[in-house]
Amino acid sequence: MTEDKFTGTLLLAVFTAVLGSFQFGYNLGVINAPQQIIVAHYRHLLVVPLDEDELHNSTEMHVPTLQPTINYEEEETDPDPSTAIVTMFWSLSVSIFAVGGMIASFFGGWLGDKLGRIKGMLAANSLSLIGAVLMAIAKFGPSHILIISGRFISGLYCGLVSGLVPMYVGEISPTSLRGALGTLHQLAIVTGILVSQVIGLDFILGNDDMWPVLLGLSGAPAVLQCLLLFFCPESPRYLYIKLGEESKAKTNLKRLRGDCDPTKDITEMKKEKEEASSEKKVSMIQLFTMASYRQPILVALMLHMAQQFSGINGIFYYSTSIFYTAGVGQPVYATIGVGVVNTIFTIISVFLVERAGRRSLFLVGLSGMLVCAVAMTVGLVLLHQFSWMSYVSMTAIFLFVSFFEIGPGPIPWFMVAEFFSQGPRPAAIAMAAFCNWTCNFIVALSFQYIADFCGPYVFALFAVILLGFTLFTFFKVPETKGKSFEEIAAEFRKMRGGSFTGPKTAVELEYLGAKENA
Ligand code: GLC
Repeated sequence: MTEDKFTGTLLLAVFTAVLGSFQFGYNLGVINAPQQIIVAHYRHLLVVPLDEDELHNSTEMHVPTLQPTINYEEEETDPDPSTAIVTMFWSLSVSIFAVGGMIASFFGGWLGDKLGRIKGMLAANSLSLIGAVLMAIAKFGPSHILIISGRFISGLYCGLVSGLVPMYVGEISPTSLRGALGTLHQLAIVTGILVSQVIGLDFILGNDDMWPVLLGLSGAPAVLQCLLLFFCPESPRYLYIKLGEESKAKTNLKRLRGDCDPTKDITEMKKEKEEASSEKKVSMIQLFTMASYRQPILVALMLHMAQQFSGINGIFYYSTSIFYTAGVGQPVYATIGVGVVNTIFTIISVFLVERAGRRSLFLVGLSGMLVCAVAMTVGLVLLHQFSWMSYVSMTAIFLFVSFFEIGPGPIPWFMVAEFFSQGPRPAAIAMAAFCNWTCNFIVALSFQYIADFCGPYVFALFAVILLGFTLFTFFKVPETKGKSFEEIAAEFRKMRGGSFTGPKTAVELEYLGAKENA
């Protein structure tokens, strides 16, 4: 069907780019396991200065192997105001990461356009390294300040990554491999989460001696990425369309495609360049005000909202306590099991996405999650009547995560880049990444309150939300598999009720509109 193939350079370039996504996942997951130890350290620093022996003993007592991910019980039963200070600094240490991500996600597209994709990623890495160093030295100074600033700066890096990586990978991939390679961003995120869960176990790095190493280790892939970036080709699309450097673009295209005929890519890029030159620069506001972009940007935002409001991070941030509530004997290991299942299904999705298509996988994923959310609710509600219900809940959680990774996990990250041509793409990607981080932050902050309020019915709420997003996907999300950017724009036009005869693409319409106004 296609002569597109994986060349060494393409693999190296994608691998190097997704080292950034790996750090994103690592930073997301790393903070769970050493929670008790770092909290004890904060307490020692801010409230009760113990001598070294006492601290060691106290942290040993504070390292339960079966700890809930967020120990809310401790907050409730300990009215000591000094505990409130420790809790406040701890909560800030966790959530400041998403704040950094939210802020920087706005600038990923801008940085990629300003410096180029490769230099943009290189520059972004300086943030990752600074963040890692601050966390690695946290034990030798005011730990809370160093960790909070380190995580904020790492969050800034990850916010940039969530725009830069899908953009670069989307641009260098041949059309027929765009989905599979786009999924690697998510695969690297989930691998990062899994690695941090495993090496965060108390007998590896999640202990009183090694936690600064655990936190600082996110700098290691940053160093590797910096080195490898020197060997990666700049995006031919960026060179040709943005800078007009045709011969450089061709050279890089040859490096990426090997001995395949690059004519198809060049023709597509030429068309995109013509369109880009007729497009006025598209700002974030114009994405909403111009008729031709409104539909794709709304769908793009809905995809990211569906991903986050599916409740997935409720599982990732709080899985240990959810397993605990569901009566599972070894919640920490069950959490690692979730990480493993998560990774396996992301790998499956890499292979499925070019066969089944994005729209169908997204639909299957969301509806599967909906069924699992109902099963989880039944399991939690009936736990006290039937002890075997804990197996129902546990199975439902594993399946929930599997369905997530089949579609709703990876697809929004690369599908947004497919919805837009070169002109509006950076603004659209930035908008989508910002939406993702904001929704992530909202779920992270509110999940425990929702859980307290709804009790065992917490996932019933997510089931309702999932139903809404499943219907939305069914009616409003087009298939993009194997289509050029121009065909995708036509697909949206069809949904808006336009005809296929007349001017075909959104961009052409824009061009005609601009000419009429002139
Ligand atoms: C996606 C989400 C992220 C989530 C992860 C879990 O990348 O964007 O928030 O933690 O999947 O696999």
